[in-house]
Amino acid sequence: MASEVSSSYSRRAAEYAERLGSMTAVHPSDVHLVSTWAAGVEGPLLDAGCGPGHWTAYLRELGHDARGVDQVAGFIEHARASHPSAPFAIGNVDALDDPADSYGGVLAWYSLIHHEPETIRRPLEEFARVLRPGGRLLVGFFVADNVKPLDHAVVAAYQWSSAVLGKELIAAGFDVEETHTRTASAPNPRPHGAILARLRPAG
Ligand SMILES: C[S@@+](CC[C@H](N)C(=O)[O-])C[C@H]1O[C@@H](n2cnc3c(N)ncnc32)[C@H](O)[C@@H]1O
Repeated sequence: MASEVSSSYSRRAAEYAERLGSMTAVHPSDVHLVSTWAAGVEGPLLDAGCGPGHWTAYLRELGHDARGVDQVAGFIEHARASHPSAPFAIGNVDALDDPADSYGGVLAWYSLIHHEPETIRRPLEEFARVLRPGGRLLVGFFVADNVKPLDHAVVAAYQWSSAVLGKELIAAGFDVEETHTRTASAPNPRPHGAILARLRPAG
């Protein structure tokens, strides 16, 4: 599945970047949510599964020490060309190259939607590893009343209920602090969800 996600996005990276790779394509309430969340983070930020890199660049414009990582080389090339002053790296959210305690915050904005439900614990535990004690995680996802497959333009994806995803976060070492949902209008009427979580102190 992971290699299928990578190859499918590789084929469509330019199209995705053209359609969705700028902050003008982001819903204003999402911009507000992420900006407000980031303002409460102390320390560097990781944009995990950054795609074309627009969130990384935006967070840096806000003054945050943000970097982006994505498994798709085409996205990282695009991100570096579009935002030359921002740091981007090819990497896998299931096994990040960063040492433990590297970040104050991790943004996983729709980047876990392609994980099969039984594999989502892996990146969440990886985020817990690279976050500093008390570090903050923001996950954006498509929300539903349960976990179920989603008709996605690029490759197989899943919708999650906030409750089930919250349990995965708790199991990975986080406390859930806030849950948000919003509906959207045509042409993409899928409900959107976001969970803000904080790494539970050890012990
Ligand atoms: C729906 S896109 C979201 C991209 C970006 N966060 C945004 O808001 O536009 C999903 C992204 O997650 C990345 N991704 C999925 N699984 C990944 C993994 N295991 N490691 C790194 N990136 C991954 C994909 O390559 C893709 O860029």
